[in-house]
Amino acid sequence: MASFFVNGRQESCPENKKLIRFLRDDLRLTSVKNGCSEGACGTCTVLIDGKATKACVQQTDRLESKQIITCEGLSAREREVYAYAFTEAGAVQCGFCTPGMVMAAKALLDREPNPTTAQIKDAIRMNICRCTGYKKIEEAILLAAEVFRNGEAVPHRALKGIVGENLDRVDAPGKALGEALYADDLYFDGMLYGTAVRSKYPRARVLSIDTAAAKAYEGVVCVLTADDIPGTQKIGHLKQDYDVMIPVGKVTHFLGDAIVLVAAETEAQARAAAALVKVEYEELPPVLDMLSGLKDEILVHESNGTNVLSHEHLVRGNADEVIRKSRYVVTNRYSTPPTDHAFLEPECAVAMHEGDGMRIYSGDQGVYQTRKECAQMLGLEPDKVRVTAMMVGGGFGGKEDMSVQHHAALLAWHTRRPVKVAFSRADGKPFDPSEAPRNGDGVHHRLRRERLSDCHESDDCVRYGRVRVARRTGSAACLHACGRTLQLSEH
Ligand code: FES
Ligand code: FES
Repeated sequence: MASFFVNGRQESCPENKKLIRFLRDDLRLTSVKNGCSEGACGTCTVLIDGKATKACVQQTDRLESKQIITCEGLSAREREVYAYAFTEAGAVQCGFCTPGMVMAAKALLDREPNPTTAQIKDAIRMNICRCTGYKKIEEAILLAAEVFRNGEAVPHRALKGIVGENLDRVDAPGKALGEALYADDLYFDGMLYGTAVRSKYPRARVLSIDTAAAKAYEGVVCVLTADDIPGTQKIGHLKQDYDVMIPVGKVTHFLGDAIVLVAAETEAQARAAAALVKVEYEELPPVLDMLSGLKDEILVHESNGTNVLSHEHLVRGNADEVIRKSRYVVTNRYSTPPTDHAFLEPECAVAMHEGDGMRIYSGDQGVYQTRKECAQMLGLEPDKVRVTAMMVGGGFGGKEDMSVQHHAALLAWHTRRPVKVAFSRADGKPFDPSEAPRNGDGVHHRLRRERLSDCHESDDCVRYGRVRVARRTGSAACLHACGRTLQLSEH
């Protein structure tokens, strides 16, 4: 048990826990964002005795008598200045990193009212921003410092309403001060926490599932398998080939495939119970890269009959003719690696019954698609499912697909209670749809113009070629990517 001060109020924490959990779950100070829970991203930055500190690495038992300040504890003047400076400098995009940036800025400006850019860089070196880059954030902190030093009122720009005029982002002040709500910031009375048991192998037949120990675990309210899906078993944006859960007898497609869902009174109970589920597998050889996948020797989706999702043939000009006439021709194989979107906000959704339908609060990039697929899974008409778009803490296309929304909806459907499903960073790793790797094979001609005296293109850099590109598509046939079917393009 520890006693300390949060935003000037004395608080007691009876059990030792991470400070971020106490601030968010107990005090509902949701400006303290949870980007990783591992001390890596800085979204949870607060001040402890005036020092910028990550709340996810502090245990409450070590904070006796400390003074903790979050964005909610900023003075009226500080709120006005930071909101103005970050908005004016264009330093806010998704906003998930911004309250942490503001607290890091406060720690600096409280001790150094006239900082150099080098000092600002040093002050925010532990805070990651995935959207904005750091220059505008540095400018915002310089601007805030100037306004504080001058002691002037924050300017209010009068808009003229003319084309070309710079407009402030309407959501920037709320995001800067941590007031903007992301899905994980929602708390409802009686809310349960859900998680999934995911495949141990990238490709394996599920032989049996034993949920007895999980069902008996303290706090567990519901344990579901594929047999509990009232509507369609498979969902997906472009092609419905993504299993909500893999049933007994069927084959997994990647490490992210869910096999069992668990809902419990606390997240820790849900995760502990999920670890008790016993799944018996027959391990099968996986498809590990696109080029071997193209051979169709092992089918990722057996019912498709091929690993190729689509074949596009694009023709622009006469590449054969140009290559034949070219002075220089390069033939090579090119590849790009998979690249994680690395949005700072892990996926999260909260679902609950609403009338005879379902309400889903989701931080995704396609609420209509979420509605459609969750309705199909629940066997409901689409108008019985309503999806509320929460703030999205970065997505970059990687939050277009179902990740947690359908699982939250299914658990809420069965428990008749609100259910939150939030990925940890580790949960997201095997699942997150990374930007697809590409393998290109063929003749590719790319030379600078000065070396192409017989070419009449006006571009500085001229490209012609005949390329066969294999692109890994999504966790299913999704819009963005992670890995089980292939798309072939020939240019
Ligand atoms: S550093 Fe604390 S949530 Fe990432
Ligand atoms: S604005 Fe910084 S992570 Fe999105």
